[in-house]
Amino acid sequence: MAGLLNRSPHPSQRIPNLLLAAVHDLVLAADPHPAVGELSRWYGSVTDRPNAVGPGLDDPWPHFRRVVLEHPGVADRTATRSTQTNEVGRCATVMPVLATMEATEGSLALVEIGASAGLNLLVDRWSYRYTRRPDVSAAEVEMARVTGEGGPVLTCELRGQGTPPIPERPPIPAHRVGVDLNPVELGDPAQARWLLACQWPDEPERIERARLAIAEGSRLRPRVEPGDAVDRVTDLVRAAPAGLLPVVVSTWVLSYLSEPRRRELSDRLDHLGSVRDFTMVLAEQPELITGLEVPPRPDGRPDGAATALVRIDWRGGERRARRLADQHPHGAWLEWFAT
Ligand SMILES: C[S@@+](CC[C@H](N)C(=O)[O-])C[C@H]1O[C@@H](n2cnc3c(N)ncnc32)[C@H](O)[C@@H]1O
Repeated sequence: MAGLLNRSPHPSQRIPNLLLAAVHDLVLAADPHPAVGELSRWYGSVTDRPNAVGPGLDDPWPHFRRVVLEHPGVADRTATRSTQTNEVGRCATVMPVLATMEATEGSLALVEIGASAGLNLLVDRWSYRYTRRPDVSAAEVEMARVTGEGGPVLTCELRGQGTPPIPERPPIPAHRVGVDLNPVELGDPAQARWLLACQWPDEPERIERARLAIAEGSRLRPRVEPGDAVDRVTDLVRAAPAGLLPVVVSTWVLSYLSEPRRRELSDRLDHLGSVRDFTMVLAEQPELITGLEVPPRPDGRPDGAATALVRIDWRGGERRARRLADQHPHGAWLEWFAT
């Protein structure tokens, strides 16, 4: 099975996640191969009562191995595809930041780099539920609910002492556009299914949330242009309609760029900021975006494996960067720092 991955043309494809996604995709497609049917009984993404994993008859491994070695669709996928996700859960942490800007500076023009299928451009379509635990061992208590136009409810646990500025309704961007090296075409059922296939089948809530978001995205078709973020970002900001505040959003994208390309992006944004006001909101893991300056946590604690939520404003030619929060990579929790 490892040999199969090693035949993938690009080193970035030679990862176990790609093999798992290739098999999951056949399961989601209800492929008629008998071993796929057998294996499906362990997948929480297609059954409400997945088999327990254990020894003997509870072991999915023989079926998994058969699918990989017998089904030509696995080799086909590992040779031609790469893993691709679009995590709407991240809207739960970015949404309050966008709402604050909309309230204080007027309507927004969203420019998302590495937008994947563009689901996070639809920040006004989702609903949000913020919870808190009175103490670590206690159950979560709902603190606030923000209702959008449709789609899934995104739950985010608030941690630490700070409270984010949760609005009464999500912001409604007046203009939105994304750019991605490989945009996912939601109108193509195979591409939409691949987004699900790249998620873990034993996280059914996350899969359900993605299913609802994909259904809404397929209807609304957010605009995501093909292209490189570094090459395109300046033009996309410049093309924002006059009177709107352009906001460049980047969530788990900058780590895919080489360090020189990240520096180039930073230089281009600074250059643009010298002639035009705009903001960037990024949710990225500091250790993975070397070459970019990420403001430290205000309490001086070192960065761990958390994702940093950072706002950078360029106003009147001045640049100001703020570390607003730390968060779970998918937005499951938020530790707000800013006042
Ligand atoms: C982990 S996904 C994150 C997608 C989305 N931002 C989210 O939070 O769900 C990374 C995305 O970045 C895109 N990407 C990677 N390098 C890129 C580049 N140089 N220019 C544009 N998009 C890029 C990938 O195609 C992929 O869609």
